[in-house]
Amino acid sequence: MSFLSETLSRVKPSPTIAVTTLAGELKAAGKDVIGLGAGEPDFDTPANIKAAGIAAIEAGKTKYTAPDGIPELKQAICDKFARENGLNYTPQQISVGTGGKQILYNALMATLNPGDEVVIPAPYWVSYPDMVLLAGGTPVIAAATLENSFKITPDQLEAAITPKTKWLIFNSPSNPTGAGYSLAELKGLTDVLMRHPHVWVMTDDMYEHLAYDDFEFCTPAQVEPGLYERTLTCNGVSKAYAMTGWRIGYAAGPVELIAAMRKIQSQSTSNPCTISQWAAIEALNGPQDFLVTNNVTFKRRRDLVVSMLSEIDGITCPVPEGAFYVYPSIAGLIGKTTPDGTVISNDEAFSRALLETTGVAVVFGAAFGLSPNFRVSYATSDEALKEACTRIQNFCAELT
Ligand SMILES: Cc1ncc(COP(=O)(O)O)c(C=O)c1O
Repeated sequence: MSFLSETLSRVKPSPTIAVTTLAGELKAAGKDVIGLGAGEPDFDTPANIKAAGIAAIEAGKTKYTAPDGIPELKQAICDKFARENGLNYTPQQISVGTGGKQILYNALMATLNPGDEVVIPAPYWVSYPDMVLLAGGTPVIAAATLENSFKITPDQLEAAITPKTKWLIFNSPSNPTGAGYSLAELKGLTDVLMRHPHVWVMTDDMYEHLAYDDFEFCTPAQVEPGLYERTLTCNGVSKAYAMTGWRIGYAAGPVELIAAMRKIQSQSTSNPCTISQWAAIEALNGPQDFLVTNNVTFKRRRDLVVSMLSEIDGITCPVPEGAFYVYPSIAGLIGKTTPDGTVISNDEAFSRALLETTGVAVVFGAAFGLSPNFRVSYATSDEALKEACTRIQNFCAELT
């Protein structure tokens, strides 16, 4: 019998971290690698936010705090929800964790019993199914299609719900596709949820501020106030404020659920980093103009990648509404062969051959629950993106 737990045997390590690690190893070994695997902005944390962290250290704000956050940060989060989302919460309804990841994990740990089902639209962020499994629940995948711009329909949601459904995890704009639900599309889903009062919604609004063209972000409790009592609205500072390493995420929801999440956190990591909490207050309350500047850069990069990949025979690359990912289909390349005889049998084989031949690291679609695709993170320089897309074009041109 293994010394390791049975629960652990049901989950797999994060494939996105695995790709980033492999690319790093190849780079260290001297290979010319361009990493398009990592899900983090290449921008530095804005100076005013760094200064707030430094000021916190110098003021001796370096001790334990309440497990789920200092009152000043909880108030800043309440203000953010009121200002940006039209949602009213009190500080008792706020939980702050070590990244958005811990917030989602706490919520699942606090609520799932064996047999409970969690509906997860695919393509999904890699961690959702495994977190559900770790918490003892059962993921139920509702698979979107490229034809429907990687968004699930109300009928698909309806079909996925059973009497055992506890949560829908809803992520828009999405990692890995960048797809964002419009108000009308989201209303279609919330109408279904209103017919199933036993189903709660866990939103993952991490990419709220990364939206382009005329896309307008909206979140379930805002679109359907009738869901307020059974929605956990999750967000964080990692992506929009280029603060991935600071590790601050947060959520708002019913007091009882927030208290249950606090209990879990108090017995695992205790409070999120004190210094980062003070920096996050500055992120939320301070100037927001750099978000607009960053989005101009991200949109330019998105358009560059979409246009260069769309030139390739066999690849279809939809234009996403937000985040910093594109999720092209390689359906037209499956079955082809590389010059050294490797058959592109699926998206994992494609990504491996691409990395070995050209040094371009992408993440294969099977990791996100929809194949045959691959995910490109365009949160890197225009020059690196141009070079990477040229290498992908050349690699595909040599397939026969
Ligand atoms: C959709 C989504 N949710 C949550 C997270 C986790 O965010 P954090 O770094 O704040 O834990 C990520 C990070 O990749 C993400 O893409």
